[in-house]
Amino acid sequence: MAKYTIMGHPLIQHKISMIRDKNTGTNEFRKLIEEIAMLMAYEALRDLPLEEVSIETPIEPCMAPMISGKKMAVVPILRAGLGMVNGILALVPTAKVGHIGLYRDPVTHEPHEYYCKLPELIDQRTILVVDPMLATGGSAVDAVNYVKDHGGKDIKYMCIIAAPEGLERLMDAHPDIQIYVGQLDRCLNEDAYICPGLGDAGDRIFGTK
Ligand code: PRP
Ligand code: URA
Repeated sequence: MAKYTIMGHPLIQHKISMIRDKNTGTNEFRKLIEEIAMLMAYEALRDLPLEEVSIETPIEPCMAPMISGKKMAVVPILRAGLGMVNGILALVPTAKVGHIGLYRDPVTHEPHEYYCKLPELIDQRTILVVDPMLATGGSAVDAVNYVKDHGGKDIKYMCIIAAPEGLERLMDAHPDIQIYVGQLDRCLNEDAYICPGLGDAGDRIFGTK
């Protein structure tokens, strides 16, 4: 069974309220998305494996825990997922970054792929697929399909705002992945936008319309 976690931390909740506000401009919106992504990643990565390594402090040698294995890949779903990458890299600067380019058809709301590239040895990494918005779930399902088709096994998906419809669809399609959600909203509207949501995340991050 897929598991999902709603991030209850007050700092995350407060910052999500700020990005919902239509009066929050591009510059502030972008900074907040980065901060929220960092705070959420701190929670989502609490099970990263550690190994004991030998180091010398100025006082004496000792064994100390460090993150083990091939470490991580952050995989944003373009465009809006790009806004989350720097916040996560602030925590894990050695992570590699993949890209999954998808856009939603405005009429059918189905995702269309236009560019994808993943880091090497993806099968050995903890992979964090990120996108601020989980609406119908079509983009998230396709992105995780792509990662799995290329060998990814240890996959987490992280979004800032989810609609119940999208969360259910993602859990049905990929019951084996761990899902992290900032806030779960009420529903989708007739244009498949999340209500109350925050509007179009890509447009608000990049100042397009
Ligand atoms: C938005 C968002 C997600 C997708 C969610 O991207 O960033 O990727 O829609 O919708 P879904 O769950 O119904 O698939 P969009 O396709 O608008 O592209 P953009 O990020 O380039 O603006
Ligand atoms: N994509 C967005 O950016 N916002 C929504 O509400 C739905 C999809």
